[in-house]
Amino acid sequence: MNVLLIGATGMIGQGVLRESLLDPDVQNVLSIGRSLTGQRHPKLRELVHTDFFDFSALEPEMKGFDACFFCLGVSSAGMSEERYQRVTYDITMAVARTLAKLNPDMTFIYVSGMGTDSTERGRVMWARVKGKTENALMKLPFKARYMFRPGFIQPLRGIRSKTRLYRAFYTITGPLYPLIRVLFPRYVTTTEDLGRAMIKVAKQGARKSVLEN
Ligand SMILES: NC(=O)c1ccc[n+]([C@@H]2O[C@H](COP(=O)([O-])OP(=O)(O)OC[C@H]3O[C@@H](n4cnc5c(N)ncnc54)[C@H](OP(=O)(O)O)[C@@H]3O)[C@@H](O)[C@H]2O)c1
Repeated sequence: MNVLLIGATGMIGQGVLRESLLDPDVQNVLSIGRSLTGQRHPKLRELVHTDFFDFSALEPEMKGFDACFFCLGVSSAGMSEERYQRVTYDITMAVARTLAKLNPDMTFIYVSGMGTDSTERGRVMWARVKGKTENALMKLPFKARYMFRPGFIQPLRGIRSKTRLYRAFYTITGPLYPLIRVLFPRYVTTTEDLGRAMIKVAKQGARKSVLEN
């Protein structure tokens, strides 16, 4: 399986990158980001791209992939709806439209979040924007698309979020993780399990398009 990874420098992206490099069924990983991951591995190739609203110059590089793991995203904290939508919706759709055109046999996996609002009309801004993004992705002509909606994700193996807010949150809650897992097993996962789940769904598919924890 040839995998294209967007957001590989982030917490979830680092997790799925690690699992992809370990998985014998993944032959190649191309990471496209605005910075390098700092990792070296025979399966991994990286492209640095600055304009995430326009991928026309990269099109020749974006062909021939079986799966895309789209892990790019930001926290909505302190952001206007317009700014949040610019990253969450506009960037995602710029990547996804390019990939759908070039890779009709691709499985596209998008990381949204627990509580995403598919009606696009609820009161929570981030949930509406993620819902709008998921709904638009569902209409693109990929072989398959899956929306992953994780809740609490415990970073493992030294992985850290790029988002200060998440980093602080997971530093505080990290020691409590075993307890949280026992008390709320349906709402928690780890970067490792999430990465493995994304790879498994890319290989085998799933019965539902929207996958919760
Ligand atoms: N962490 C959680 O607990 C959690 C839970 C549920 C859902 N989610 C969702 O999962 C997604 C990823 O979360 P995360 O925790 O992995 O985030 P993260 O650690 O902050 O990583 C964000 C990733 O997105 C990239 N990125 C952000 N803005 C960008 C831009 N304007 N242009 C290009 N790249 C950009 C970052 O690249 P740089 O390295 O270049 O900054 C980084 O690779 C988000 O949509 C988040 O809402 C996260």
